[in-house]
Amino acid sequence: MPNALERAASEVMGAAKDVQAGFKGLTGVFMHLMEEHGRVGALIRRVALSEDLEVRAKLYPTIRTELLDHEKGELIAVYPELARFPETAAIAAAHAHHASELEAEILELDALSFNSGSWAPAFERLAKLVDEHVTIEEREYFPLAQKVLGEERAQQLLTTFEAAKKS
Ligand SMILES: [Fe+2]
Repeated sequence: MPNALERAASEVMGAAKDVQAGFKGLTGVFMHLMEEHGRVGALIRRVALSEDLEVRAKLYPTIRTELLDHEKGELIAVYPELARFPETAAIAAAHAHHASELEAEILELDALSFNSGSWAPAFERLAKLVDEHVTIEEREYFPLAQKVLGEERAQQLLTTFEAAKKS
């Protein structure tokens, strides 16, 4: 579990993403997904900048759960919706590929002990994949999806997304 300072930094990054999402015209589920990117991104940076095994042991389980729940929610609630429209169908297919890459990297990390010399490079690969996921979603996928689905549907999908994460 993150400590109070790490949680605060994560919350700040999440809130900053909310503001950015607002500037981009994103609402509902898309604004929320950006907020989650900000929160997990702060925790990933904290681990990437440290060689402390305790930091890894404390934060990796949270990062892992956050990422898997985020992907699960997206795969169940958001991308199938995008697959229904010709303008966004290709996005859904590309995302499924990214999601399986991310999951494979998480499985690789799960198999390593925190003091292994391979841990940091594997975590760096995960951080890079997350970064690519965030960049493409926030620059391309979400603005287009928001335009195609509209504000009301983006709002409804937030409820579906939250339920899917818990399923
Ligand atoms: Fe995402």
